[in-house]
Amino acid sequence: MVVLYYFFQDIGTLQILCAVLLLFFLIVVSATWKTSPFRMPPGPFPLPIIGNLHILDLKRLDKSLEKLSKKYGNVFTLTFGTTKSMVVLGYEAAHDVLVNHADEFAERPMLKSFQKVTNGKGLIFSHGDEWKTMRRFALSTLRDFGMGKTTIEDRIHKEAEMLIKEIEAHKGQPFYDRWLMNSCTGNVICSIILGKRFDYHDPIFVKLIQIVSQNVKLLGCPAVQLYNIFPFLGFLFGAPNILFRNMQEQRKFFVEFLKLNRQTVNENDIRSYADAFMLKQQEEMKKPDNYFDEENLLVSTMNLFSAGLETTSSTLQWAFLMMIKYPEMQKKVQEEIDEVVGNSRLPTLEDRKIMPYTDAVIHEVQRFCNIVTLPLMRETTCDTNFRGYFLSKGTRVLIPLSSILFDKTQWESPEKFTPSHFLDAHGKFIKKAAFLPFSAGRRVCLGESLAKAESFLLFTALIQKFTFYPAPGVTSEELDLKPDVGATSTPQYHLMCAVPRN
Ligand code: HEM
Repeated sequence: MVVLYYFFQDIGTLQILCAVLLLFFLIVVSATWKTSPFRMPPGPFPLPIIGNLHILDLKRLDKSLEKLSKKYGNVFTLTFGTTKSMVVLGYEAAHDVLVNHADEFAERPMLKSFQKVTNGKGLIFSHGDEWKTMRRFALSTLRDFGMGKTTIEDRIHKEAEMLIKEIEAHKGQPFYDRWLMNSCTGNVICSIILGKRFDYHDPIFVKLIQIVSQNVKLLGCPAVQLYNIFPFLGFLFGAPNILFRNMQEQRKFFVEFLKLNRQTVNENDIRSYADAFMLKQQEEMKKPDNYFDEENLLVSTMNLFSAGLETTSSTLQWAFLMMIKYPEMQKKVQEEIDEVVGNSRLPTLEDRKIMPYTDAVIHEVQRFCNIVTLPLMRETTCDTNFRGYFLSKGTRVLIPLSSILFDKTQWESPEKFTPSHFLDAHGKFIKKAAFLPFSAGRRVCLGESLAKAESFLLFTALIQKFTFYPAPGVTSEELDLKPDVGATSTPQYHLMCAVPRN
């Protein structure tokens, strides 16, 4: 020390040297320590407290991430507040995460808003073994109710007929389709989970649907995302409080419904997912590690209702808007329906196999309209090595689906709406690996096959019966394709006309 003191006569220089040595030591320790942020992919330098928030547009996080990828590549790190997340874009890197490392990236982050509305229960925001048990049960029960089989058709056809009647009642006059599509897809899922369909005008059903639509918008809004990053500032944001109030209201309805349902459960007549869950509860009652509790029954039923309603309804709304925008495509779909199905019966899932053009149109709607806009949110289940980087257990991962559905390396003209993305030179339907609107891997959409059946059967049933036009005074060219964005994307409110064919 004495030597050092004489060496650094000036005490200020000694202090600076100590500080530099300390900083160097910290960097070395961090870089070699296994949970170090220095071993995550590089990314923009974070500011204290806010991290990288100053360079993000939280209204369109997917677009912001795509912009940043131009500078930082397809895998980079972003800091939200003080939490680091790995961002992954494009088909190749996303496939690597979702499929090649399926088990390592199968968790959901415990975001404050999700935790508060679900208590970490149910299907979408649940964790670990509890999630696995709930997911396995839901998949097998939904299959028992026809999901993934042709038996689902009757249920969807019944709802298609109701929808046709509602549209006929407008007698070719302009109407808004959003509420009709929400009611239709809401009823398909209610018939499975609650064993009941509702009249489209039933005030309770109308309210439930409004709540789901509003919440899906709120989940994607900047205030809720800021609340997730800085929960202690919750009192400053209005949106999370509306979200929580809505959830309370939705909860109240489902609690009441399930209470009444329990009184009539009969193991010889299983009417719904709720019935099956209640019977499973009796079976599992005495087992240790029993996850079939009341909260999981309630939250998983509410999850299926919300997830099953909004996304499928948005797909249909986009599909009809595209048909109005591109009348020549609508005509080709109608010609294919006339040729394969005729007009004396409703189209079936078996017909889809020989209706390549219609199938391609629906696929292109799902690609181009990018229904789930909020990036996929995953978390590592264990310490993970990925592409030379180290991610400790619990590291968050964000994957915007738009970066896959618009990936220039996978699609000929990603920015153009063209069903030919799914057709070969002979007009035969072709599958595309980068068609991942339902995601992939362990947490892939649980309702994928139901959603696919609904999109095809409802779309073709309506196009068979009606020709869709813009409201009088609006030309096809003038139709606005700007999305109304939340966690999902829907078309802006717009009027349309449905004129019965023959
Ligand atoms: C066109 C309609 C639909 C689209 C585009 C869609 C898309 C998605 C996406 C992107 C995810 C996230 C997957 C991930 O994190 O990797 C998801 C999850 C989920 N979806 Fe869907 N979905 C649709 C319809 C449905 C339907 C009809 C149901 C109900 C039967 C449903 C139930 C769920 C559930 C429960 C999850 C959470 C899965 C989990 O975390 O294990 N979805 N969906």
